[in-house]
Amino acid sequence: MSEPVQTPLTAQNAAFKPRIFSGIQPSGGLTLGNYLGALKRFVEKQDEGIETIYCLVDMHAITVWQDPAKLRHATREGAAGFIAAGIDPARSVLFNQSQVTAHVELAWIFNCVARMGWMSRMTQFKDKAGKNSENVSLGLFAYPALMAADILAYHATMVPVGEDQKQHLELTRDIAIKFNNDYGVNYFPVVDPLIEGAATRVMSLRDGTKKMSKSDPSDQSRINLTDDADMIASKIRKAKTDSEPLPDSADGLKDRPEARNLVNIYAALANQSVEQVMAEYAGAQFGTFKPALADLAVSKLGPITTEMNRLMKDPAEIDRILGEGADRAEAIARPIVDKVYDITGMIRSRR
Ligand code: AMP
Ligand code: TRP
Repeated sequence: MSEPVQTPLTAQNAAFKPRIFSGIQPSGGLTLGNYLGALKRFVEKQDEGIETIYCLVDMHAITVWQDPAKLRHATREGAAGFIAAGIDPARSVLFNQSQVTAHVELAWIFNCVARMGWMSRMTQFKDKAGKNSENVSLGLFAYPALMAADILAYHATMVPVGEDQKQHLELTRDIAIKFNNDYGVNYFPVVDPLIEGAATRVMSLRDGTKKMSKSDPSDQSRINLTDDADMIASKIRKAKTDSEPLPDSADGLKDRPEARNLVNIYAALANQSVEQVMAEYAGAQFGTFKPALADLAVSKLGPITTEMNRLMKDPAEIDRILGEGADRAEAIARPIVDKVYDITGMIRSRR
């Protein structure tokens, strides 16, 4: 296997203007993990005034089976979640991936740049395929090349994601570097992952060693952005914990995954550091801490849920927003991907 050559980041990226891209799969409802690890951060970046492009990656979703009606619903609900959480479709570009064909065009080129060995090492593929790797879709294996295409079709330089996407972003860097080297160009930026905040990896409420996920069979394991106040409170009350009081420093949470998870969630929702939360709740029992966390979660998530429900009453308006976003996305991606045909030696005589 050819090892990617590392080039100093700043030299590589000096030619590119700061631009943020990120995506979420509409393969089910949004969870608290999506909110704290991704959405909340997407809003912060938008509000910092950086150019932001956000995408519901429906083409990624179908790498595992999706019922068509449910996929359509989840895509609209995802868009409603973005807007309810604070994404302003006038300031950010918000769209669904399949409406901009530049993504899949560039993904094919990247399928020819990425190496089988690179893809085989992706832990998300190994987790999702499990013992069944002969029988999963070819798309699931190629998934990270499409993700690289999502990002690089916009020459994006920064990608806010949760911890679980770190390896995919390293692969995106490797693809950009190999493409640039193979073709002797400095065409694609080498992206910076933005994995920041107190909750880059929100864990299951039932098992502190497992990621909170929309695909977990147990609904008790996660908080959905569609859950009402009673449901949120009840899930937090029943969340698995140990029986010790909270320690007086973050260090004391090291070997207590469930306690650490609840503290991280609290810190992220309250916009505090873990140390600040520990200072307030040192020595507290979960009988005290859980109701405080439930109140905080309801006060932060409640307004989002209400706004999502309101937006979902007008699906045509959501589709209109996604279409307008897709037009703006296409205007950026089309010329970038067109030039790739030239670089790679494809004849384009119809233009
Ligand atoms: P997905 O739902 O897999 O499409 O993920 C969309 C975004 O949410 C990515 O940036 C993920 O890293 C992030 N994310 C998903 N689950 C979690 C979690 N449990 N904790 C933190 N971030 C998460
Ligand atoms: N793979 C990401 C996830 O499951 C979703 C995704 C697709 C993405 N394309 C992207 C994230 C581009 C960031 C940038 O979470």
